[in-house]
Amino acid sequence: MSMEEGWTKDKLVDRIRKKYEGEGLNPDTFMTGLLWSKPISYWDYINLDALLNLQVPRTIFPDENVFIMYHQINELIFKMILQEIEQIGEHGGMDAEFFKSRIMRIARYFDMLYSSFSIMQQGMDVEQYMRFRNTLAPASGFQSGQYRIIELCSTDIENLIDNRFRKDFSEEWTWEECFNKIYWQAAMVDHKTGQKSYTLEDFESKYMDRFVETAERYQDKNLYAVYHSMTDEAKEDKELIEVMRHLDYTVNIKWVMAHYHAAHHYLNSGKKKAEATGGSEWEKYMLPKYQKRIFFPSLWTEEEITNWGEGLV
Ligand code: HEM
Repeated sequence: MSMEEGWTKDKLVDRIRKKYEGEGLNPDTFMTGLLWSKPISYWDYINLDALLNLQVPRTIFPDENVFIMYHQINELIFKMILQEIEQIGEHGGMDAEFFKSRIMRIARYFDMLYSSFSIMQQGMDVEQYMRFRNTLAPASGFQSGQYRIIELCSTDIENLIDNRFRKDFSEEWTWEECFNKIYWQAAMVDHKTGQKSYTLEDFESKYMDRFVETAERYQDKNLYAVYHSMTDEAKEDKELIEVMRHLDYTVNIKWVMAHYHAAHHYLNSGKKKAEATGGSEWEKYMLPKYQKRIFFPSLWTEEEITNWGEGLV
């Protein structure tokens, strides 16, 4: 690594002095500290020892580590996606090129999550999975807060309302009303009694404040809102439309179906169907053709929306 282009050594030292003085700190202390500092290593830089000690299986089955680590990888990628979304939201005065390049970054992350999902379906022995999963209940991937935050930052809340109530949506709804009718409630609320499952209660008590705060903060700067804020010329950019459609399709159909098939592979492997750790009626709930979760609805034709996720079971 080299000095800033065109700088002399004196200029560098002078800038370092000014930086610390500007912060009201003594530059000599910092320069002396630099003299005795240890060079950094790869393992310290990326905090490798901590990272490799984050797996704490609850059983003796080695495949439980596959399950834990793959979930951890997903959460890290979710964090990378959220970092991109945040930069888009903060950018202001959006231009098509920047927006497109950042949407492409997000799409690449989701391509990776989709194409690697076979690690779940084929990378664990069914016998081991069916044993270690008993120690997870009532936890479920359903409780991934980052996954829901990505959704809240990607589109208007209206598009995340349960498909059965979406047509009744009104801008007058309070956040509480919105979150009571958000699509994921259908998985975990008893239709007859209105009773929420433990998995949902636990999830909401940890994340609900953050969900409401995020939905409010991203009302005007979620990905779909940013798209709408651009000029007509930018909005008609064919490549941009293509990559946004690709992202929508990958997240809301391809990933969902890969996940559905993995669940099917394990939970329906025995003579008797196994109950999900979060306890949902997942086989009906998960299918995109019922949920019709679509981040960017105006980029799809009516026919495409009607046939959303059809023929993909
Ligand atoms: C063998 C692997 C997996 C199986 C069998 C499985 C199974 C399930 C089931 C049955 C549900 C429905 C909720 C419940 O009753 O628990 C669910 C929800 C969910 N899981 Fe997984 N899952 C697996 C892997 C993953 C991975 C790797 C992730 C990544 C973080 C993940 C994220 C989610 C999310 C976000 C939901 C909520 C989906 C929605 O509300 O539409 N799952 N999972």
